[in-house]
Amino acid sequence: MLELKKEKLPVREMIQKAMETLECSYAPYSNFKVAASLLTEDGVIYTGCNIENAAYSPGNCAERTAFFKAVSEGVREFAAICIVNEDEKGGHGICPPCGMCRQVMMEFCRPEEFYIILAADEAQYEIHTLAELFPMGFGPGSLKG
Ligand code: THU
Repeated sequence: MLELKKEKLPVREMIQKAMETLECSYAPYSNFKVAASLLTEDGVIYTGCNIENAAYSPGNCAERTAFFKAVSEGVREFAAICIVNEDEKGGHGICPPCGMCRQVMMEFCRPEEFYIILAADEAQYEIHTLAELFPMGFGPGSLKG
């Protein structure tokens, strides 16, 4: 297993791919575009965007779109995810993952080793572990007593 260290993450490439994916975001209700790039342990990058819906609840976050694309193709080992956003004025800020997305990450990632890159642009970003953003999370191991 690759287990990339924080210093070796392809941060710039992940931010670029996430930024490009903002173009695919379907967010006519919130006007808040979100995109993610998800790095697998094999070094492949899957992207995802938020996909909203007129009935609101069926909408999906960018992070889960990326995870579900990868898992549905047989991938279950992940190293890092990068999240970017664009507001209705075209501004980019730091977009922390919602609780539901953190729970999905918890299913497939080792919390101490999975990195979450929150990027405003290529120069302004922060890197956290899932353990930092989702302490004492309930995961597959919790079912084993
Ligand atoms: N959103 C994401 O895609 N990821 C997050 O982590 C936070 C929120 C989306 C959901 C919705 O389409 C829009 O941002 C506003 O909440």
